[in-house]
Amino acid sequence: MNAHFSASSTGNIKHFLNISDLDSATLRDIITLAKNMKAMQENRKFPLHPAEPIKGRMVALIFSKPSTRTRVSFEVGVKQLGGSAIVLSTHEMQIGRGETIQDTARVLSRFVDAIVLRTGSNDDLLELAHWSSVPVINGLTPFSHPSQVMADIITFEEHLGPIKGRTIAWVGDGNNVANSLIEAAAQFEFKIRLATPETLMPSEKVLQWAKNKGADILLTCNPKEAVSGADCVVTDTWVSMSDDDPEKRLKILEPYRVNQALMALAAPNAIFMHCLPAHVGEEVTKDVFESARSVVFDEAENRLHAHKAMLIWCMMGDNWRQYGER
Ligand code: CP
Ligand code: NVA
Repeated sequence: MNAHFSASSTGNIKHFLNISDLDSATLRDIITLAKNMKAMQENRKFPLHPAEPIKGRMVALIFSKPSTRTRVSFEVGVKQLGGSAIVLSTHEMQIGRGETIQDTARVLSRFVDAIVLRTGSNDDLLELAHWSSVPVINGLTPFSHPSQVMADIITFEEHLGPIKGRTIAWVGDGNNVANSLIEAAAQFEFKIRLATPETLMPSEKVLQWAKNKGADILLTCNPKEAVSGADCVVTDTWVSMSDDDPEKRLKILEPYRVNQALMALAAPNAIFMHCLPAHVGEEVTKDVFESARSVVFDEAENRLHAHKAMLIWCMMGDNWRQYGER
């Protein structure tokens, strides 16, 4: 565990809180497992996972913020692996009336075998993981979105081959997805070029961690500089779920829209990625979003495969790698 970002490790429990927490070989093996499981699904042999690795196990999916992809892909993934999912909104739980995260973690640990949490507070995620005696997976906080970026690695590689040494350009808000992408740049050894306004830069702690790990990072306020020659251009909404200053952001981010003129500066076969939901016309123009270069729906699908591999890593102890065998 990385002491800067994560709850202290509780025994041998494997939490997936941030991409910086795992070693790069393990992350690579999780990606390989996800790709293998995707191939199984494409062969359409049912049941998809006859070994049902998490048969009889329960996973709680807890959301204090809206979600389409994370919620559905985790629920489908748990069921495909033979387990059962319980989807909960914090508004319906006693957390919503002030029960502590500490007590919630200790209670849920008596009922379920893993917890996925989407929350508006990164501290709440760390607190939950600290007190939970079952694995906790980060389903998005304002600080990071690692399950998204695991899917993004798969998506890049299925379109353009190994990501190591390639160049990814991030244009727009230096937000939670950007932070996880920077951590991934260090772990998967790709170059990252970030164009953000000075007031919306990614986390300094994340940048420092990635630089200490030898990551090749360029920070600029100029989208053209970031995108020039890049293999992939990535953006995200200008107003994230936890932001409370939409008008200010929309104004500051206006020069950071990904349009055809910007994409023309990237490599000739460059792809466009976006975690979705998109606000077409704001952070990306319709012609880019709907173009052949846009792989956003592959990205969405790959959430499923990434999440299944993450669940197996978290829940299957030391034998988790065997579930990648076909
Ligand atoms: N990309 C993503 O996390 O989508 P949802 O908010 O729909 O889960
Ligand atoms: N940055 C966005 C991602 C949504 C999936 C948000 O936090 O709202």
